[in-house]
Amino acid sequence: MERSLSMELVRVTEAAALQSARWVGQGLKNEADDAATTAMRTVFDTIPMNGTVVIGEGEMDEAPMLYIGEELGMGDNGPNLDIAVDPLEGTTIVAKGEWGAITVLGVADKGNLLHAPDMYMEKIAVGPECKGKVDITKSVRENLEAVAKAKGKDITEVTVTLLDRDRHSELIKEIREVGARIKLISNGDVNAAINTAFDFTGVDILLGSGGAPEGVLAAIGLKCLGGDFQGVLLPEDSEQEARCRKMGIEPNTVIPLEEMVKGDDAIYAATAVTDNELMKGVQFKGNYAETSSIVMRAKSGTVRFINGRHSLKKKPDLVVKDED
Ligand code: FBP
Repeated sequence: MERSLSMELVRVTEAAALQSARWVGQGLKNEADDAATTAMRTVFDTIPMNGTVVIGEGEMDEAPMLYIGEELGMGDNGPNLDIAVDPLEGTTIVAKGEWGAITVLGVADKGNLLHAPDMYMEKIAVGPECKGKVDITKSVRENLEAVAKAKGKDITEVTVTLLDRDRHSELIKEIREVGARIKLISNGDVNAAINTAFDFTGVDILLGSGGAPEGVLAAIGLKCLGGDFQGVLLPEDSEQEARCRKMGIEPNTVIPLEEMVKGDDAIYAATAVTDNELMKGVQFKGNYAETSSIVMRAKSGTVRFINGRHSLKKKPDLVVKDED
C-alpha cells in the first residue's frame, strides 16, 4: 500500500462525519447512518484503488451501498485491498447527541482481513504494554492482574471499559470483586478499544461482548498501535453457527489479532462525529466546519491526529469528487 493512501482515507471518514453530524440529536439514527454511508461511498470512488468491502453495511440485498462484496475505488492500477467500514459507529449516539460516535474504516491488502459475520463477539483489547499478556480464555482476575503488572499499577488502579448492557452484569460483578475500576459506555466499542492504547484516556482494558464487525475494526486499529485484541464469536442459534463455519470460523474459538488482520500492513482511519476521549466532534462554525481525525498505519507505526477545516462555501455539500 502507498503511504499516501492514509490521507485519501481520512477524506472518506471526514466526509462521512461532516454529513452525519448534521443529524446530531435529531432522534433519527437511520438517516444519520445513511448520510455517513452515502458520503463514504462517494469519496471512496475518488481514490485510485481496487477495494472490496469485507466488513460493511450488510449483504447486497439488505444494503444499497457499502454492502459486503461491493467494489470501491477508481480501479486503474491501484492496489487490491480489503475494506472494513462502519460509516457511523454509534448511530444511537448521534440520534441522542451523546458522546463517542465516529466514522471509521480500515484497509489491508486483499485477503488479509477477517470476514466476520454480523453477530456478537466476546472481546478483550489492550494497549502495547499489555500485548501478549492477556488471554481471553483466562479469568477476569488473571487478566486484570496481568494488566496491573504490565502497567506497574495496583489492580485497584486498573480501569476496565465495557458496554453498559444487562448481558454484562456477571462480568461487572466479577470486575468489582477483583477491585478494579469500571467505565461503562452506552455504545461505541471500537473507539473504547482504541482508547486502551492511549494512557491519557485513563482506560486500560476493554472487556465484554459487542458486534463482531466492530471487533475487526478495533483489531485493525490496535495492530497499528502495537496493542492486542482477541475475539470469540458468539453465535446465538444454529443458523448463526452455520454462518461462522461458512466463513471458515469455528464458533467459540479464540481469534487472535493476527488472524483478524493478517500481514504486516493495515491502515485505520476514524473521524469523530461527537466528542470522544481522543478527538473533538464535528463543529459547525458558519462558513466552515472543523473535524478531528486519527489515521494510523501498521507498517510504519505512525499515528496522526489530523484537524481539518472545511469550507462550507466552497464545498457546500461537504463531499468533493475532485482534489480539495
Ligand atoms: P450502532 O449500531 O448504533 O452504531 O451501535 C454500535 C455499538 O454500540 C457497537 O459499538 C457495539 O459493538 C454494538 O453496537 C453493541 O451491540 P448492542 O447494542 O446490541 O449491545
